[in-house]
Amino acid sequence: MVEFEPKIIGFLCNWCSYAGADLAGVSRIQYPPNIRVIRVMCSGRVDPVIVLEMFADGADGILVMGCHPGECHYLEGNLYAERRIKMLKRLIACTGLEPERLRLEWVSAAEGSRFADIVTDFTNQLKSLGPSALAGEKPDENILSCVRAAERAAGTSRLRTLVGREKKLTEEENVYGEKVAQEEFDELMEESVKEEYLRSRIYLLAKDESISIEELTKHLSADSEIVLRHIVVMKRRGLLKMDRIEGDNPLYTALEAI
Ligand code: FES
Repeated sequence: MVEFEPKIIGFLCNWCSYAGADLAGVSRIQYPPNIRVIRVMCSGRVDPVIVLEMFADGADGILVMGCHPGECHYLEGNLYAERRIKMLKRLIACTGLEPERLRLEWVSAAEGSRFADIVTDFTNQLKSLGPSALAGEKPDENILSCVRAAERAAGTSRLRTLVGREKKLTEEENVYGEKVAQEEFDELMEESVKEEYLRSRIYLLAKDESISIEELTKHLSADSEIVLRHIVVMKRRGLLKMDRIEGDNPLYTALEAI
């Protein structure tokens, strides 16, 4: 039987990790050929929506590599990347895909062997996880629709703003000398990720055809009260409208505007 060979996408920052990979190459250090490299100027440039798109397209694993903390050429791009990856892992966990398929590592230009070790270790980890449910010719349709919803949620201004403000809110005092405790922020982020994910699932289901609360509840395995609460918020945001009433049931449809 042919051994499973995971497809890995590697986002490597131009200034450190890409040079580290180059050093591994010129030093003839062996590492598995499973990684396809995309060079980015900074790990902070890797957009969560693109990462989820790649999972939807069947990537078995995604490796983001940047400069060590304190060495980012754009000062704090790698610290923002760290927060984005943390948020993304929470979102991925909602979809049914394994969050371990996404990994963030720091590699400097002088660390060719560290680059090779990380790629080897990640490849072996993915081999033991097995192929992604979205890889191959017959991707799992249910997980695919969940990943599409996660993709949409990752692009919402609420999650983008929270990730962008985390450092400031948790590390810097406001004019009253207050700052948000990390645990408090983590709870807020967890709740926001779950809410935006669920709203995105409702939106995508209502986009295909008008749908009732009962049907949404079944699709999402969620409490009807929670679904109704999200519908109210989505109507207020102009994302959803009532299409018609069938029997006693109002049917909702998604609106194009975001
Ligand atoms: Fe390398 Fe920012 S320049 S992570």
